[in-house]
Amino acid sequence: MRFMKIAVLAGDGIGVEVTREAICVLREIAPVFELELETKDALIGGAAIRETGKPFPNETRDVCLESDAVLLGAVGDPEFDNLLPEERPEIGLLQLRKALGGFANLRPAKAFPALIGSSPLRAEIFEGTDLLIVRELLGGLYFGQPRGFLADRPEAFNTMRYSEAEIERVARVAFKTAQTRKKKVTSVDKANVLETSRLWRDTVEKVAKDFPDVVLDHLFVDACAMHLVTNPTRFDVILTENLFGDILSDEAAVLTGSLGMLASATVGGNIDMYEPVHGSAPDIAGKDIANPLGAIASVAMLLRHTAKNEAAAIAIEEAIEHVLDEGHRTADITSPSTKKPAKTSEMGKLVAEYAVKLAGPNRAHAA
Ligand code: IPM
Ligand code: MN
Repeated sequence: MRFMKIAVLAGDGIGVEVTREAICVLREIAPVFELELETKDALIGGAAIRETGKPFPNETRDVCLESDAVLLGAVGDPEFDNLLPEERPEIGLLQLRKALGGFANLRPAKAFPALIGSSPLRAEIFEGTDLLIVRELLGGLYFGQPRGFLADRPEAFNTMRYSEAEIERVARVAFKTAQTRKKKVTSVDKANVLETSRLWRDTVEKVAKDFPDVVLDHLFVDACAMHLVTNPTRFDVILTENLFGDILSDEAAVLTGSLGMLASATVGGNIDMYEPVHGSAPDIAGKDIANPLGAIASVAMLLRHTAKNEAAAIAIEEAIEHVLDEGHRTADITSPSTKKPAKTSEMGKLVAEYAVKLAGPNRAHAA
């Protein structure tokens, strides 16, 4: 039996609903793979501001730092739209990322054949898409100093800043991951304009020398945005800085069918964190219609990276694919043949059931 402590930070909006389903799937599958779980809930984002006045309270930090992994839902609440950036729910997520120390955010985007009708791309462009964005998560404009407003706010400024060491460590994660995939890294920058991007490109070139079996190419970020929708199968691993990765991963997500499908893992720090790529979607929150598959796929990544249990991860990933193949769809991925979209909770239950079935008949009884 392997014992794991998981901090569950459901956060705001649909974060609550999708996390509930992800934890249900995890609870169902854990005993089959001899995993014993202890989950602890903690507040973040708008939910935390409402209770404690702070988006990332100390108690939450402590719960996270005492865990083996953190599972996050989503952060963001329109109630706090008028606050300054440093007081908003989103800052709670940035403080959490900094506290955990994970600098490499892995965002896989894979085209499920069943979702051909949901992608905005034509079938022949969509087919075979299977890429991974490795987004630097602790540097660049998100954290660079100085930043702020000038007095009386006639001007505001942020700083894009990267050190060689910050670039090198995330590049190593990208190259190592590429060795387990199609052995290609596309490094994305804006080296025709930005100094940080020149340093990025030179450093990535240096790191590449240690990975002779991996092919490296470079793209400017604007060209990358174009290639993602015209020729997504040209990509294997995309390595890029924080803000470029934020933007490109939303683009990569919708081309595979829906932003609701994408999972992510943040690794490299003291404690790894898993979260769907989508946001809190306040417009559909509380209606039991959000797509929980990104959150559930994040649990699969947790099982793979933190629990080191590839078989459990695969059981969940195959269950997701199976449920889609059977025609089950939440509202964001319906096709003309969908009779009635599935609820968030129905999707979660279907995936859990099938994952357990796939894992074999020797299932111990779920708690
Ligand atoms: C993401 C989100 C966050 C980010 C926000 C909520 C701070 O958009 O994880 O992609 O920009 O990193
Ligand atoms: Mn984003």
